[in-house]
Amino acid sequence: MRVLFVASECAPFVKTGGLADVIGSLPLALEGCGTEIRILLPAYPSLSELASNATSVAHLEDFFGGQAEIKSVTADGLHLLLLVAPHLYDRAGGLYLTPAGRDWPDNYRRFAALSFAGAEICSSGVGDWVPEVVHVHDWQTGLLPAYLSQRPDRSPPVVMTIHNIAYQGLVDRSHLSELRLDKRLYTPDGLEYYGEISCLKAGITFSQKITTVSPTYADEILTSDMGFGLEGLLRARRDDLIGILNGIDVNLWNPETDAALGRPYSVRSHRRKRDNKFDIETRFQLRSSIGPLFCVISRLTQQKGIDLLLTAIPRLMAANANLIVLGSGDQWLEQQLQVAASEYCDQMRVVIGFDETMAHMLLGASDAILIPSRFEPCGLTQLYGLRYGAIPIVARTGGLADTIIDANHASLTADCATGIQFAAGDSAAFEHAINRCCKLYQNPSLWSKMIGRAMRHSVGWDQSAADYHHIYTDLVSWKLKSTAV
Ligand code: ADP
Ligand code: GLC
Repeated sequence: MRVLFVASECAPFVKTGGLADVIGSLPLALEGCGTEIRILLPAYPSLSELASNATSVAHLEDFFGGQAEIKSVTADGLHLLLLVAPHLYDRAGGLYLTPAGRDWPDNYRRFAALSFAGAEICSSGVGDWVPEVVHVHDWQTGLLPAYLSQRPDRSPPVVMTIHNIAYQGLVDRSHLSELRLDKRLYTPDGLEYYGEISCLKAGITFSQKITTVSPTYADEILTSDMGFGLEGLLRARRDDLIGILNGIDVNLWNPETDAALGRPYSVRSHRRKRDNKFDIETRFQLRSSIGPLFCVISRLTQQKGIDLLLTAIPRLMAANANLIVLGSGDQWLEQQLQVAASEYCDQMRVVIGFDETMAHMLLGASDAILIPSRFEPCGLTQLYGLRYGAIPIVARTGGLADTIIDANHASLTADCATGIQFAAGDSAAFEHAINRCCKLYQNPSLWSKMIGRAMRHSVGWDQSAADYHHIYTDLVSWKLKSTAV
């Protein structure tokens, strides 16, 4: 089975969040199910060295304002197709943002181009590799199935995964022809969304199958509270929508072999976490905590409930806990966190920035990880928390609700609790969850058992990769049948 992935990021090459982790790990798991994956990615500057060693497989003349080519290379076990288009991707700044932190004004063109290149590969293949299924991810690749719908119907079926419905890629409709979109597609049943083009809506409308990244989120996006205006369309496509939980790369995220940890450890030797904790508290000049060391590893945005965290900081500090926050995002949240850190200078640190090694170190040292998201399609940091025995304290929403077993009376009695849940968006409930955590922490035997259970909890891709494989197989047979008729 040949499947083309098209995405805007892929770990370890280029990452701003969980999308990259998924694109960098799911294909490896799918290969185990007998699926051959090629990943089409923009050749951002961080990929330039890889691109210079890659083989050119296609030229795209007159490509959205310049020349482009597609280059093929294998790295870290992943088969990459790099879309080399310097006029679109070779610039200083972020993937989506200018150095000043604003959206690139031509993002609509940059990602339409990525989608268009994906559609070209569907039609012409690369060498003799022609995809049987295309799997697109988030709004950046949502136009791909719309482009395919404009072509003769030898095109492969499309699976679209919604990683976060809050980001929809809205484009002024005046760009329709510049983006090579047929104006007949610009209808309420097609691309149109309140007078604009919605890339995500296009993806949902024109794909044969829609997935999202947890079963609970698949239900939540059918509601007006969490569907961000697309709930009606999704309800109409309910039979084609499924929630498949994300997994993680358990080799890359392995506390037994993690080079970022001073003291690697296993389920049996998890007490060594204490040494990692001591080291990191020393490194950050925090007083040695009597309570748990909490960490936060997150984009600092409203979605992630960082304002709730700010409210809870006095409670945390009163519980004699320590807190280290690693993140970047909204300026006011960054500033408020720094103000709190200077107020509680011997118990709290904030590291502003994106630092992969530090994320591993924090997981290996912390007793618990706080994830107070207002909504969370899946979330990966709670899975990393489980794997590293950093007990996840999570809001009961989306994939957080699906992956963490709350330490209530029933689950503690049944010996299956792996973390703590609280009502999403409720700061009193969050503070209560922190209290419950501190209380459990004071009971060493309960706490140690919980760490053991968390670390043993299955967080890999096996089941979910099999579910995706099943979808691809079904779509290929459906396509065969529908073309035979
Ligand atoms: P989202 O994709 O919504 O940001 P996820 O939990 O799915 O949330 O994934 C976030 C990913 O980004 C995880 O791999 C997490 O470790 C990583 N991450 C987030 N912020 C930082 C940071 N400041 N430094 C390093 N890694 C980070
Ligand atoms: C998005 C979501 C996050 C999810 C990730 C990977 O960034 O916000 O919840 O884990 O995609 O699917």
